[in-house]
Amino acid sequence: MQLKTIVLAASAAATAAALPATDSSSSETFGVISIHSGSAVQYQPFTAAKSSLFAGLPSQNASCARPAEQSATFYIQDGALYLYDESATPQEFYVDRSGMGQGKIGYTTGAQPAPQNAERQGWAIDSNNHLQFAGNDLTACPNSIDGAWSIWAAGVTNPAGNSDCVGIAARVEKTSDPNGCKYTE
Ligand SMILES: *[C@@H]1O[C@H](CO)[C@@H](O)[C@H](O)[C@H]1NC(C)=O
Repeated sequence: MQLKTIVLAASAAATAAALPATDSSSSETFGVISIHSGSAVQYQPFTAAKSSLFAGLPSQNASCARPAEQSATFYIQDGALYLYDESATPQEFYVDRSGMGQGKIGYTTGAQPAPQNAERQGWAIDSNNHLQFAGNDLTACPNSIDGAWSIWAAGVTNPAGNSDCVGIAARVEKTSDPNGCKYTE
């Protein structure tokens, strides 16, 4: 209750109509840390902006209850991955493993449809506490926007013309005090 009060007070956009229709806080919320020792991506937190997933964005430019925190907060519901917020507008991930998508991970906002060939379900936390899609670890590619790494589903070694991509373990860090954010589209 207290968190909701703070979130509502902090968000200029929040109105009574923006109260969540379903209470996502019943699902466990978590952040993610990239693990690949010897790579610069090691220990970079997952971040979300511009409908895409990154590791180590210096500034997400999201509208957050705690704006200083530069990491994304997630939850999984029925095998689908969401960004956490107290608002009723969901931001839900998809994965495009088609020849076009090459493992592209993106998110949609509200009623926005996922691209053709995209999959919503298949996300899980494995017994090693790693976030996976379709039972596979994820891939990180350097030199994305603002010097961050872009995050992809496994399958193509260097997807979409990237180079020097590395496989990562996406270590889940559960939080009982999630930072609600609306991430940029
Ligand atoms: C965030 O905003 C700054 C300042 O406008 C900009 O330089 C940066 O590229 C933005 N980052 C993202 C991920 O949108």
